[in-house]
Amino acid sequence: MRHILLFLLIAGIISACSNASITAHDPIEKKIDSLLPLMTLEEKIGQLSLYTSDWDVTGPTMRAGYKDDIKAGKVGAIFNAYTANYTKDLQKLAVEGSRLHIPLLFGYDVIHGHRTIFPIPLGLASSWDLEAIEKSARIAATEASAEGLHWAYGPMVDIARDPRWGRIAEGAGEDTYLGCAIARVMVKGYQGEKLGQLNSVMASVKHFAAYGAALAGRDYNTVDISERTLREIYLPPYEAAVDAGAATVMTSFNEIDGVPSSGNKVLLTDILRKEWGFTGFVVSDYTSIMELIPHGFAADTASAAAEALEAGLDMDMQAGFYQAALPKLVKQGVIQEGLIDESVRRILRKKFELGLFKDPYRYSDAAREKETVMKPEFLSAAREIARKSIVLLKNGGTTGKEKPLLPLSASLKRIALIGPLADAKREMIGSWSAAGDWKKSVTLLEGIKSKISSGTQVIYARGCNINDDSTKYFAEAIQAASQADVVVLAVGESASMTGEAASRSTLDLPGVQEKLVEEIYKTGKPVAVVLMNGRPLTINWIDQHVSSILETWFLGTEGGYAIADVLFGDYNPSGKLTVTFPQSLGQVPIFYNAKNTGRPRDPNNKYTSKYLDISNEPLYPFGYGLSYTSFIYGDVVVSKKESQDQNEMTIICRVTNQGNKAGEEVVQFYVRDLVGSVTRPVKELKGFQKIKLAPGEFKEVTFTLHPNDLSFYRGDMSFGPEAGKFQIFVGPNSRDVKQADFELTEKTKAHYDFLLAGERKKNL
Ligand code: BGC
Repeated sequence: MRHILLFLLIAGIISACSNASITAHDPIEKKIDSLLPLMTLEEKIGQLSLYTSDWDVTGPTMRAGYKDDIKAGKVGAIFNAYTANYTKDLQKLAVEGSRLHIPLLFGYDVIHGHRTIFPIPLGLASSWDLEAIEKSARIAATEASAEGLHWAYGPMVDIARDPRWGRIAEGAGEDTYLGCAIARVMVKGYQGEKLGQLNSVMASVKHFAAYGAALAGRDYNTVDISERTLREIYLPPYEAAVDAGAATVMTSFNEIDGVPSSGNKVLLTDILRKEWGFTGFVVSDYTSIMELIPHGFAADTASAAAEALEAGLDMDMQAGFYQAALPKLVKQGVIQEGLIDESVRRILRKKFELGLFKDPYRYSDAAREKETVMKPEFLSAAREIARKSIVLLKNGGTTGKEKPLLPLSASLKRIALIGPLADAKREMIGSWSAAGDWKKSVTLLEGIKSKISSGTQVIYARGCNINDDSTKYFAEAIQAASQADVVVLAVGESASMTGEAASRSTLDLPGVQEKLVEEIYKTGKPVAVVLMNGRPLTINWIDQHVSSILETWFLGTEGGYAIADVLFGDYNPSGKLTVTFPQSLGQVPIFYNAKNTGRPRDPNNKYTSKYLDISNEPLYPFGYGLSYTSFIYGDVVVSKKESQDQNEMTIICRVTNQGNKAGEEVVQFYVRDLVGSVTRPVKELKGFQKIKLAPGEFKEVTFTLHPNDLSFYRGDMSFGPEAGKFQIFVGPNSRDVKQADFELTEKTKAHYDFLLAGERKKNL
């Protein structure tokens, strides 16, 4: 049974055999042309309907009896169902049970790994290693597709500047340039060389758009930003994903300027399809079509369905509104059937591209599943990527000048491992690790035990729980610390404190954990704090007191091994923060690419832009992270090539490893446009390179300036550069940079405008 024709014959639906023109060799469009006229209106609407299976859900289940609906042709896609056998069973219902035998799509939240879990996306981003990030998505796609899945609900590319928002953990952080780079490789990783390959799944870039700008960091909350901020800060990563070929786009729950995304024609049609040339299909985020009613944007089911479809939303996830309302709306002439046909066409096209009409069971292959899932090579990739995601925040004793505590010597006599996250299997894989088996994750205790020799004793004590008031385990922990040469203290958040519906009103360590750190510190033993969390935390006291701090996020299945690799120096940490860590919650939102204001902070002048109680500085800036070796940066040189096409400008900076360990450094390149028709940020990331240097080795790191790097939405909303003075910065983070200046002439500006116009045309 390898072709729809065959199914039609087997089913004996002679009347349907007018689709004889659907042959394997026809271009997809022709096949759709043949199939569409065979479909009833209800069957068409079925293709626009996506429901959860009964396995697990991320919100309210709207319908029971979805299996009967599959057989009735009322369902086009299913989510929350995986494994080769289960997807095969459900597929059978559609292919053998429904009148036209149209195969189902199976989608799932494959976010940071499928079975083998990688670091949470905020952690992955901290690696600044695009190859590694792509590999994580490639492995996720390989595992997911072997379990019958065709469609991953990622990447999430929402820029997030507010760490109260729990979903900051699911994205790449606060920066647009880095967000775009990661969006591209994630799409490549999920989709592989092309859809239809057995180890490829469709990506669904989400949540379109600007979901991360929720007011006060409260999930699902209102977004109110200018068009310029929307286009400059928030939209580019979605566009980058679309340019990289993302097959689908998921809407967001929020409104922007009073219009919820799932009914937003400007977003879903004008920008996405007309400006960006997106040809895939758009799916709602969960019941967001239904939510047009409480938003106050639609009065009832019918108007919500009509608003969404007319805005350009093709597939209704879980609300059931299309199914409930569209048939009548068509009959009443409110909705033209042609509009429904367009959406059906977009969805069918993907089913064809995935090869599902040729063989609907091709992804549900139990043998492939068995040999693929959690392969040893996937686990070692997970360990490798996890250690790249770790950020060393401090390593110099309390003054910053004392001998670094890390890496630890493997010949220590006694190590006290303390803290509620030291042996917490469930927490290691973080939120949105849907199909990940937490029982298979490696804890820090297990990781450390795997490293040390028989001469070293590890004394483990929980110390306290993650989020309650009890200090009953303190005494045992203090005793453990007193007996040890060194204390490793694992504190942070639980996995469920980040992700969806997990906003927090404080960024402090939850429960009594900070008290625990203070008590352990009082023992006078050297302390290395290992943080596990999904957002920036306010850890001033810890920063001021303990010797060393490692930010490890939630590192995934192999997390414990990865942390131990770093603790004992088998891997030299190289991660850098992709979000700013504030000193205090009161500074939020705080991000590096802010504006200067008309009264930039002057500590000696009250009437400047500042707080009375603290400086404007973050605790750790964007791009920050240390190494066991030290890198020094030379002067920044801007070199202009005044050739015929005067677009060649390069930035060169020598970076030297002056320590005695080999290490990797993320060399970052920022730009500032000093004067514009609208004000520009004090710094914007425009390039980075992760380089590896042996002790004493140096490299001339070169960045080539692209017209885009100097461009912005000008006063009249046209996109391009303006002539004038610029500053260029190169450094190990957004704060500690070397600077050079240059001037963009009118002539070069005009040339850049010309080049950019050409690029935009290519997109259309
Ligand atoms: C989330 C999405 C997710 C979807 C399906 C929603 O609640 O916002 O990110 O892909 O559920 O599980």
